[in-house]
Amino acid sequence: DAARATVGALAGKRVVITAGPTREPIDPVRYISNHSSGKMGYALARAAADAGAQVVLVSGPVNLPVPDGVAVRPVMTAQDMLQEAERVVAEGCDIFIATAAVADYRPAACAGDKIKKTDEAMTLSLVRNPDTLATIAARKNPPFTVGFAAETTDVARYAHDKMQRKKLNMIVANDVSVPGLGFNSDQNAVTVFWPSGEQAIGPDSKQAIADTLVALIAEHSNKVGN
Ligand code: CTP
Ligand code: CA
Repeated sequence: DAARATVGALAGKRVVITAGPTREPIDPVRYISNHSSGKMGYALARAAADAGAQVVLVSGPVNLPVPDGVAVRPVMTAQDMLQEAERVVAEGCDIFIATAAVADYRPAACAGDKIKKTDEAMTLSLVRNPDTLATIAARKNPPFTVGFAAETTDVARYAHDKMQRKKLNMIVANDVSVPGLGFNSDQNAVTVFWPSGEQAIGPDSKQAIADTLVALIAEHSNKVGN
């Protein structure tokens, strides 16, 4: 089966995976976030560990059990995620997989005290967050980098754009316009793109898709010589 086929495929490799949402504080009791469950990242961590890799999950707040043999570095904000990912990658990383749903913006400032409502409308000022995946891919000796892209239209074109812009080796595109798949679901269907090809995987369980993805990543990362 798919899981068996990947046994040993990543033996001795160090794999770092970002997963889950980030939380961007507004004040001591409020934050901006998204519906990411972390399931795809945790399923990949399990598949990579089953394939013999040493796996570190840099994980936002999720409600999932940690797969056996996987180390977790918990983070909260996008800025934390970048800092922790850089630290872990600096310790050695052959393959970097970014599944996290990172908040693109954060409040310009976090209020020190709980914000009180007034009779007026309220405007929250947001600033751009750093891009963990693009930063890791821009390192001098980058690991084999894999990104995820959730799109609702022109999936192939946007995925190729993101792969080129962020200098990735591979990108996994989710068509999130399909009901019952993707965010928060146990089921998913993806198309994987690399510079010279593509492969559709699923619909299937996130664990089955993760097993197939790990086999594909093992094959391609060996070709690049990472
Ligand atoms: N990503 C990241 N850090 C960010 C934003 C995104 O590491 N601050 C990673 C995600 O984990 C994913 C990939 O980049 O692997 C693409 O994320 P996505 O949100 O689809 O792309 P963006 O570049 O943020 O573009 P947009 O949201 O505008 O489509
Ligand atoms: Ca984004």
